[in-house]
Amino acid sequence: MPEREIMTTPALREHPADPQGPDVTEYPTLTETTHAYPMPDARLILIAHILNTAVPFVRTLAKVMPVDAVIAVPYSAQPTACAALAEELPVDVPSNVGDVGPLAAQRAADASKRSRDNLIIQEVGGYCAHLVEELAAMPGLRGVVEDTKQGQWHYEQQQPLQLPVFTIADSPLKALEDSQVGLSIAYSVEHLLRARFFQLISELRVGVLGYGGIGTATARSLRSRGSRVGVYDVDQIRMSQAVVDGHEPFPRDELLRWADVVVGVSGHRAFTADDLDLLRDGAILASGSSKQIEFDVPGIRARSELKREQDELAELVYNGRTVFLLNDGRPVNFLHQSILGNVLDLVYSELYLCTRELASKRWHPGMHRLDPGLQQDLARRWTHNHGQGRWQR
Ligand SMILES: NC(=O)c1ccc[n+]([C@@H]2O[C@H](COP(=O)([O-])OP(=O)(O)OC[C@H]3O[C@@H](n4cnc5c(N)ncnc54)[C@H](O)[C@@H]3O)[C@@H](O)[C@H]2O)c1
Repeated sequence: MPEREIMTTPALREHPADPQGPDVTEYPTLTETTHAYPMPDARLILIAHILNTAVPFVRTLAKVMPVDAVIAVPYSAQPTACAALAEELPVDVPSNVGDVGPLAAQRAADASKRSRDNLIIQEVGGYCAHLVEELAAMPGLRGVVEDTKQGQWHYEQQQPLQLPVFTIADSPLKALEDSQVGLSIAYSVEHLLRARFFQLISELRVGVLGYGGIGTATARSLRSRGSRVGVYDVDQIRMSQAVVDGHEPFPRDELLRWADVVVGVSGHRAFTADDLDLLRDGAILASGSSKQIEFDVPGIRARSELKREQDELAELVYNGRTVFLLNDGRPVNFLHQSILGNVLDLVYSELYLCTRELASKRWHPGMHRLDPGLQQDLARRWTHNHGQGRWQR
């Protein structure tokens, strides 16, 4: 594996979301938190979605601790953001997601050979979960911080865990991000419908697979844009919640027959190749979750004939019917800056404090969460920075 080199993959060169614009400025709560809670001596290996919005986050971390490697998740890596950080830090963009975890482990092994400092991995998707045993054997490696539900589930499957893993995925602060994620997913679906299908979202029926945190926010945003929203969740209580929220509940197969657009936000394999039989002619498939989890993309492609593929749109023909797949089954909101807004300042601050917890003392192996008192303090600082308090200063 080449050392410290940006591997510009074809997918990366064609990344549609690489705008030139003003730099995203710093995150005030994060900066304040690094002063209020200084980082003890420790080094960092960072796996992150390197979007423009992540640049000030990485720079702030690098001010308070040595960053031995920044590994960009390939499907979200924005070339301008990676290039800006690569001038200051060692940045890698692996050519496929399967290389992310092994590369992080290799960088961690190199770092722990070079230095006796404590080392922490901060990541975003459970990329290192299957490598926990290997990581636990590295001297100095204090643990992992995980950002996402998908990643948390991967670490939970490795029980008994041999390393401490701090997760923010089910934290009450991270839950505040769900509304912004829902807005981004609905925005990207609407944008693609307008730009590629010349259709209005308000005239289409959208089936949402999964009614958890992201599904709830996505369904709400879709409906506010005028769509008829149908919902299916494996959990009957979540189905009841969808009814309370005013959406139409459907048995799974019926939802797939009904929907013009199917949005997968379950964080699981909600749609298999066998489900192609159920779809309407012209149905559109969009993921709003993680990686290529929602749809069995290889299975769907193997069963159907590819008629046309351009940028983020693949037109497939299955059994005489047309099916459109958006962004090759990856989350559509990563085409348009993923998540935006001040809530990132809160999420990044919680990631920082979890990293600091691992650097500050030895934690026993297993899953850990940030102390609720610290979460309250972060929320107070963030509300002061981004709520009404900013007008009073
Ligand atoms: N695209 C983004 O920007 C973004 C941002 C945050 C989270 N995520 C990802 O979105 C996914 C969902 O996260 P969440 O916070 O909503 O999780 P969650 O656990 O709150 O909700 C998932 C829901 O899906 C349901 N479900 C599980 N399997 C299903 C299936 N086969 N069919 C239908 N429903 C099913 C569950 O019962 C649950 O209600 C995760 O992978 C998470 O990492 C994506």
